[in-house]
Amino acid sequence: MKNVVILISGRGSNMEALIRARDAGELPITIAAVISNRPDAAGLETAAKAGIVTHFVDHKGFPDRAAFDAALAECIDEFAPDLVILAGFMRILSDGFVRHYAGRLLNIHPSLLPAFPGLHTHRRALEEGVRIHGCTVHFVTPTLDHGPVVVQAAVPVLDSDDEASLAARVLAQEHRIYPLAVRWFAEGRLALEGGRVRLAAEADGGGALISPGVG
Ligand code: GRF
Repeated sequence: MKNVVILISGRGSNMEALIRARDAGELPITIAAVISNRPDAAGLETAAKAGIVTHFVDHKGFPDRAAFDAALAECIDEFAPDLVILAGFMRILSDGFVRHYAGRLLNIHPSLLPAFPGLHTHRRALEEGVRIHGCTVHFVTPTLDHGPVVVQAAVPVLDSDDEASLAARVLAQEHRIYPLAVRWFAEGRLALEGGRVRLAAEADGGGALISPGVG
């Protein structure tokens, strides 16, 4: 069992997808805690209802990013996590924080990275007229929305789409690929090689390596 801590800032639907997968017996993880930087994050209540320990570390209470990140890391490390999962955590993290969790910090981003890092990804995808959009789970590096890709899912962009319909189509895929990526991590099947992620075959696969992809 891998010990994980989930960081959220808002509604926490990706966190819920992970809780559902755990409850379905698909994820060999213990969710040690859910931590938010916003005391009013709706996801905190959802997590508490699921019997998970919750905390908040309010970024507004700190003079600068370094002080907030240090307090956040202290809170996280009380749970000794094997993996820290950013699930809609809307704070830029300092280099020191990211280095501290190197190789055990995952993020989900609502675009096919490296396209559209940052905010308003669905609006920007529509403005650019791309025909394919999607989402990415990646290991976190100090560069915003950047890092070795674990898995991506693509969706079509339809002529009839607006920001909301496109966001909903992508979100459904987020809820599919984040539990998948976390399962691979928890099974010890992800290896970082030269800035790329290799996915080891399942236990009886003789250790062969295959490329991660969307099934
Ligand atoms: C998701 O679209 C995620 O990719 C992005 O923020 C959103 C969070 O949604 N990083 P939720 O809080 O998981 O519902």
